[in-house]
Amino acid sequence: MKKILVYDIYKNHNLVNQFVTLSGWIRNRRHSNFGISFIDIYDGSCVKTIQGIIKNNIFNYESEILKLTNGCAVSIQGVLVYSIGKNQKYEIQVHTIKIVGFIDAPHNYPIASKKHTCEYLRLIPHLRPRTNLIGAITRIRNGIFNAMHHFLQSKNYCWIPTPIITTLDSEGAGSMFRVSTIEPNQKYHNQLHQLKSVKKDFFGKDTFLTVSGQLTAEAYACAMTKIYTFGPTFRAENSNTTRHLAEFWMLEVEESFCNLDDIINLSYNMIKYIIQYILQNNILDMEFFYSQIDKNIFNRLENFLHTPIIQIEYIDAIKILIRSKKKFINIIKNGLDLSSEHEKYLVNNYFHAPVFIKNYPKHLKAFYMKLNKDHYTVAAMDFLVPNIGELIGGSEREDCKELLEKRILELGLDKNNYSWYIDLRRYGSVPHAGFGLGFERLIAYITGVQNVKDLIPFPRTVNHALC
Ligand code: 4AD
Ligand code: MG
Repeated sequence: MKKILVYDIYKNHNLVNQFVTLSGWIRNRRHSNFGISFIDIYDGSCVKTIQGIIKNNIFNYESEILKLTNGCAVSIQGVLVYSIGKNQKYEIQVHTIKIVGFIDAPHNYPIASKKHTCEYLRLIPHLRPRTNLIGAITRIRNGIFNAMHHFLQSKNYCWIPTPIITTLDSEGAGSMFRVSTIEPNQKYHNQLHQLKSVKKDFFGKDTFLTVSGQLTAEAYACAMTKIYTFGPTFRAENSNTTRHLAEFWMLEVEESFCNLDDIINLSYNMIKYIIQYILQNNILDMEFFYSQIDKNIFNRLENFLHTPIIQIEYIDAIKILIRSKKKFINIIKNGLDLSSEHEKYLVNNYFHAPVFIKNYPKHLKAFYMKLNKDHYTVAAMDFLVPNIGELIGGSEREDCKELLEKRILELGLDKNNYSWYIDLRRYGSVPHAGFGLGFERLIAYITGVQNVKDLIPFPRTVNHALC
């Protein structure tokens, strides 16, 4: 007897008329007056369910089948046939059914009914993968992960797991989570330094959860040429927006003998590849997002595939914003950073498409970015997409030892902490560049689901860390 998943049925049409075993959970059930029960089973392999038809002549009909409720786990055996019903293509005529797990007190089951808001589901992150929405997001997340690795591996990028515990604030934003084994006590924060002299901390120095793997990734790029790192990234920013998580996943690609144009092209082609992959391999889930979330989803993604890269200089972006005469809340002028309302205007209202903005003034960007010949801007880029804002940030890296040291000094950073990083410029320095892509923001762009809190299995944000 064949043990199958729901996905196998939709992928592999020749299972019809075979005797199969299918295990999963009940999405819906209905008991007719004619001694027949209908149960829709999902197993997470696919957004679809399979209907099982159960007649009252099986031995456990009265004792168990009539007691089934939504969410019960079952294992059915029977023949897969084409359905004559309008709502489904296939069904299983059940010969035997084993109840694997009943629902305790069905009226208390937190997702017993069909529709729930995303806000409600965030309060039960351990149960929400059972919903269609989170199931579809989870499979798309997996598909994007797969496509990303395919793309990079096929181009000979070597995967490097950079450390999660770090000693450096690579982005200079100062919003890091401390890693320490010193027992917290009420006065811990005030007495941190005194306590340290009494009891040494685990690593003998300050350590944090990483805000980016880039600096250590550079060490490997400066030996392996083409590398990438992909892992959890932590930022203790107090920004409770739809785009920020305290723990998110970031892909960082780093490449030697490479410049800003190269990484712009590389990142754009990678996203195209990922979109194509998802449209080919996750079409059932994408149709679900089309019907439930975003009627523009296929247009948007097709446009991305067929639109050439749009890129503009930072200074031109500023001119466009000033010329727009739009009343922004935040001031816009040369030398100031773009806020999210400015970014939104550029992609949603002006270009109506994703856009790379490049060559920002150096004081707006991190210390490691390569100074341009004008000595005012750095060779940096941000990639902005409609409705999400910044999806990618990247740059050429300062490969001149003296200029890097000067910048470290200018920003008041402790040069001793960066000595190993400066070594990379001391011994066989090469031009190199890289970018970081926010994984949940990419899922948001592809699915149309707006809030990154719904795009990571267990979201961590200000005042919110469940399970
Ligand atoms: O622009 P960021 O800060 O760049 C870096 O960290 C560089 N070291 C990357 C590199 O060049 N290797 O972050 C990169 C991307 C952002 O564009 C955004 O998509 C995402 O990471 N990101 C976040 N995503 C969710 N929640 C947050 N709090 C995020 N902060 C950044
Ligand atoms: Mg950035």
